[in-house]
Amino acid sequence: MGIYNKYILPGAIHWACNGGNSREQREKVIPLAHGNVLEIGIGAGHSLPLYDRIKVKHLTAIDPLEKLWKKRKTDLADLPFDVEYIRGVADHIPAGNNSFDTVVVTYTLCSIANLDRTLQEVFRVLKPGGKLVFSEHGLAPDRGLRMWQNLINPLWKRIGGGCHLNRDVPAILERNGFKPDNLHTGYFSGWRPTSYHYWGSATRIT
Ligand SMILES: C[S@@+](CC[C@H](N)C(=O)[O-])C[C@H]1O[C@@H](n2cnc3c(N)ncnc32)[C@H](O)[C@@H]1O
Repeated sequence: MGIYNKYILPGAIHWACNGGNSREQREKVIPLAHGNVLEIGIGAGHSLPLYDRIKVKHLTAIDPLEKLWKKRKTDLADLPFDVEYIRGVADHIPAGNNSFDTVVVTYTLCSIANLDRTLQEVFRVLKPGGKLVFSEHGLAPDRGLRMWQNLINPLWKRIGGGCHLNRDVPAILERNGFKPDNLHTGYFSGWRPTSYHYWGSATRIT
């Protein structure tokens, strides 16, 4: 899996993140961010042109795959806010408590290995009352599809860079101290196991 993860997976993720409904989904949630923003798993920076140029003051981005970040199309010099890129995983975020007004995460909650640990870090660095803005595919309400998602998941995780098909996003957010207060769900076209989406925002409960 070493060669696959190093040479093939970054290209596959880049391709997948350009396709389907991901662009429309990012357009729905990224503009909700304001103030001092942290984006987890920024990948190739598809979010960068979608941030509200007036509301965002500073963006910190964390992602272990710098190869993807180097593929970004947006010139950072064209943005009215500073961008700081940190190569790393978000289960240790190098920032003080209550540092951010908004944390953004799109199509990354599915592939974070230690998700509870990461969300505890997000809780720590987000200001009380701050928003976690997200868009993600996840566990479907339909019993038949859920069964397939659970069945395929172990294999899919291996070839999909740790991506899980069956994460119950609202339940995971709630058990880590976030109240989904603007939650949308729905099926999209495409491969059925990744067709059910959750998006919106959740508030850090103080
Ligand atoms: C499917 S891509 C999504 C990229 C981007 N958010 C988008 O919407 O196009 C998932 C990204 O999450 C990153 N990632 C995976 N595990 C992570 C972790 N523990 N902490 C931070 N980023 C992570 C990957 O390197 C990859 O860039």
